[in-house]
Amino acid sequence: MQQLLQEVIVLVKEAGDFIRKEAQAFDKSKIEYKGKNDLVSYVDKETEKFIVAGLSKILPGAGFIAEEGTSTKRSDSYNWVIDPLDGTTNFTHGLPVYAISVALLKRGELTLGVVYDVSRDECFHATKGGGAFLNHMPISVSPVKTIDKGLIATGFPYYNFEQMNQYLAILNDFMQSTHGLRRMGSAAIDLAYTACGRFEGFFEYNLNSYDVAAGALLVKEAGGIVTDFRGGDDFLFGREIVAGNIAQPEILQIIQNHWNK
Ligand code: IPD
Ligand code: CA
Ligand code: CA
Repeated sequence: MQQLLQEVIVLVKEAGDFIRKEAQAFDKSKIEYKGKNDLVSYVDKETEKFIVAGLSKILPGAGFIAEEGTSTKRSDSYNWVIDPLDGTTNFTHGLPVYAISVALLKRGELTLGVVYDVSRDECFHATKGGGAFLNHMPISVSPVKTIDKGLIATGFPYYNFEQMNQYLAILNDFMQSTHGLRRMGSAAIDLAYTACGRFEGFFEYNLNSYDVAAGALLVKEAGGIVTDFRGGDDFLFGREIVAGNIAQPEILQIIQNHWNK
């Protein structure tokens, strides 16, 4: 697994070089739309092709869950879960907060995760049972025990506004009970920053597996807790995630006080 991880890191950093180069000259006329406020560009697509091609060599036979659909091949044993550019809206607006997220599922279980924060050249990685690291240095979740001394990250709804009132009630609570709320615009970065203790927690709904797979493993391997909004395990495909340090149950409780009521 360690050998595999090193090869994935080299590949992801090469993909990051491409994104960094394209960011210097990106022109907003190149934005395409997959749906309302759902942006994509040639940078997302080409990065994904590069990563899928590289991973196909590193682990022949593995399948893919990849956001831009470069490969839809699935395997009974190993599947890569890839977001080639998490934070596309930031990228297209020249806001340097975006990441590459690559995870490996072994029979449905997260076993490896890499989140590469391209602009800051910060590479977060974890393997199941092997701990979590930032640029090869061990990381752990924040030691802060209660959210009144915590910084919490989230993602704002941007295309499905059906649960807006409940969501706003949750934000209202967090604004009054924490050091502050942040909306970075990249779920992978939100989770990586939770893993290394910059945030005490992160929650969002309507995310896909490729947004959270690598980051969720980072948080768990850094000693954190990751659940869905009911406190269960369905955070990878269930479109609800709450991740955090020891204060995660307190964060979850605030969400549950308002969600689906
Ligand atoms: C998005 C980012 C964002 C989150 C969105 C995601 P993308 O991913 O993770 O933070 O709020 O829901 O779709 O589209 O930039 O890969
Ligand atoms: Ca994403
Ligand atoms: Ca993406």
